[in-house]
This record gives sequence, structure tokens and C-alpha cells, in this order.
Amino acid sequence: GTKLAHHHHSGAVTASVEPVKEVSVDSLTGPAEGTPDVLYTLTAEKKTVKLASGRTVEAWTYNGQIPGPELRFHKGQLVEVKLINKDITEGVTLHWHGLDVPNAEDGVAGATQNAVMPGETYTYRFVAEQVGSFWYHSHQDSKEAVAKGLFGSLVAEPEEGMPQDVKDITVITHIWEGGGVAIGDNDGIQQMKIAPGTPVRLRLTNTDDWVRQSYKLLGTKFKVAAIDGTELHEPGDLTNVSLDLTTGGRYDVTFIMPDSPVTLNVGQGGKLGIVMSPNGQGELPEQVPNLPVFDPTHYGTPASAPFDANSHFDREFTMVLDNQLGFFNGKLAMNYTINGKVFPDTPMFMVREGELVKTTIVNRGAVDHPMHLHGHHMLVLSRNGEAVTGSPWWSDTLDTAPGEVYEVAFIADNPGLWMDHCHNLAHAAAGMTMHLMYE
Ligand code: C2O
Ligand code: CU
Repeated sequence: GTKLAHHHHSGAVTASVEPVKEVSVDSLTGPAEGTPDVLYTLTAEKKTVKLASGRTVEAWTYNGQIPGPELRFHKGQLVEVKLINKDITEGVTLHWHGLDVPNAEDGVAGATQNAVMPGETYTYRFVAEQVGSFWYHSHQDSKEAVAKGLFGSLVAEPEEGMPQDVKDITVITHIWEGGGVAIGDNDGIQQMKIAPGTPVRLRLTNTDDWVRQSYKLLGTKFKVAAIDGTELHEPGDLTNVSLDLTTGGRYDVTFIMPDSPVTLNVGQGGKLGIVMSPNGQGELPEQVPNLPVFDPTHYGTPASAPFDANSHFDREFTMVLDNQLGFFNGKLAMNYTINGKVFPDTPMFMVREGELVKTTIVNRGAVDHPMHLHGHHMLVLSRNGEAVTGSPWWSDTLDTAPGEVYEVAFIADNPGLWMDHCHNLAHAAAGMTMHLMYE
């Protein structure tokens, strides 16, 4: 119906041939009518969970497990997810990290909905418009909720599904303070048998709060096929690079299984990861210390994008990230600031539907800030004054290290009130949060 078409991003573009419309409440919600193609129920509940280390922890879970169940659907499908809060007294929501859903389905407590309290339910409905690797998590006191386990992976497959022959492996890494990790469906070292010649896709997803996690794939050449759920154009072969993934970010890595073992090492200790071998045996690839870190700036080959660094921008914003001691909630503490202010005093960025928006992100602070914009994907134009010359590089969670300057741009094609915050969730809670708002 017309309602549905209005939510397609392409719908927003074709809307220019129609008379200009005011943003209506309709355009902010998912389709109310229609039988869902995919239906999930997630129940948030407290549960004692055993970690890889053997230690048991009091976790907050979706359906009793960490990570929560993997949700999969195809592009174009109508997805319905029913959230039930059994006993999380602090309240829960579901936010679809990286999936650009209509605003009312975005799951941000205090902005797009109220937190769902014990005994309450909430139903999310949206049409999947993207293909790629995403994740979901609660967005009510995210700092505590994510650290305690309220997250899971979200995979949007192509319309026709994933090719049958691809071995498709989600690797979620999440370190519980003091030890214990969830990786994929298992903990610690996972063993897998994969026949030589099999195309493999690893969906690396870092759900940690503050750690930039490093992944080392040894024993094969490979490609970084996608960043933050968006495919790269003609990515080249890589060997011996460390894939350092910011918290909240995703890398999809592909390779053809060779006839000898391949290992994915996660973190530094060598105690975490996956061993993939053709027959459960064979010599493991040698560890290589101090690998250079993968940098997407000049990776892949250029391709046309809807705009580039030379486009005319309707709005230009600057976002200066910093930290300084100050008063926060009446106490002297480290404040994490955007343009000198802590949330809710951070200025909003106001845009109109259809505008092309450029943002310069300057990290003047002492630590990394992975900046996450809801509801939109940012095209990275330059990093530290160097233009991106490889494949178009779209990001929803962009790591900025101290001293770095990024120029990014996005099309304002998804009306509503959107969060833009550091995905080091402790920083977000200590002020580094702002809103993008449609006039
Ligand atoms: Cu993954 Cu506002 O969050
Ligand atoms: Cu930060």
C-alpha cells in the first residue's frame, strides 16, 4: 500500500515528483497492516548464565541466552518482533543497530518510545530495506543493559536468501568484565569442519562497551566484503592484517576455504576464536605478532555513490568530541562532551527531509570515540585530510581516535528524532550524546 512505499528510502526520493508533503506521523512508523513475513518473540529476563571461564553471572537476557537469538530475514520482508519484559525492573527496549528503520521503530527509550516495564509488551514492525550484518540491543540505560547481556545479532539476507553453498558464520564477541566471552553460539575456541573450496563469510560483530577488539584471520587470504552492513566495491585480497573493530561496528570477512586449517584469533591472549579445518586436523597457521591494522581509506575500487566530496551540501556541521573534568549530575566527574556540552545540553542538528548533510568530526579528547548515528548511514569522505580513494565506505559506527578528523556525509531521508552518540556507552551516559532532528 501507499503507507509501505512511503517508508522506502527510494520512496522518499521519488516523493520529489509529488507535491511536497509535511512530515506526517505516518512516515515515522512501520506498516501497521499486513501479515508479517517473519515473526519473532523476544522475552527479556534475568538469568544466571555460565561463561566460558566457568564463572556464573547474573545476566539480563533475551530468551534466557547471551547473545540473544540471532534474528534473520530477507530484504523486502515485513518483520515483526514482539518484545516481552518478564522481570527487568529497569525496563527494556529493542534498538536495531545499523538498520535504518522508521523512527518510531528505533527503540530508543525516552525518545521514540517509553521503556517496556515488567509485564508489558511492545511490538516492532518494519520492512527490511538493507542487506547485511547488524545487531540489536536494549536502548534503555544501554550502558548497563548491553554490558549485562541484552543484545544479539541481526542478519538481513538478500531477497533470495544467502547462496546455499556459503558457510555463513556470525561471530559476536563480548567480554564480560573480569573474564568470560560469548563468541558465535559458543564460548572459547570453537572447532568447525569446513570442506576445502567452500565460500565462507564471517560476520564479525563487536558488542563490547569500550574495547576496540582485534581479530586476526590466519592461514588464508581474505577480503573485507562489508563494513557496518554495507558491501564494499571490489575489495582486494588481504593477508596478515589485524581487523580492529570498534565497539558497535561490523566487518564481514569472506574467503574460500583452503585445504589446510584457518584460524580466527580474537583479542590478544589467543584463548578465543575459531579453528576451521577441512577434516578436524592439520597444522595450525603460525601466530604473527604485531600485524598492521586494516584501514578502509584506500581499500577496494571507486564506484558511483549518490554523492561525493564535491557535492553541494545543504548543511554543514562540526562535532568536536572532548573530555574534561566537570560537574555531571551534581558530582565532579569526567564529562564527555560534544561541542563543549553534555547531553541534554548538547545542541541538536536540525535538518529537512531530502537535504545532503556534511559533518566534520574532530576528536580532541584523550580516548577513542566510536560515533554512532541512528537511522542513517554516513559516507566517509576523508580521514585526517586524506580523501577516501577506494570503495565508497559507508559507516554507522565510526571509530575516531584522539587527534583524528573525519568528514562524513549523509542524505536526510528518514524523518524523525534520531540519536547520535558515542558507542562507548559509558561515554554516551556521561554526556556524549546528541540528537539529529527533522524540522
Ligand atoms: Cu547501538 Cu544508540 O545504539
Ligand atoms: Cu566515546
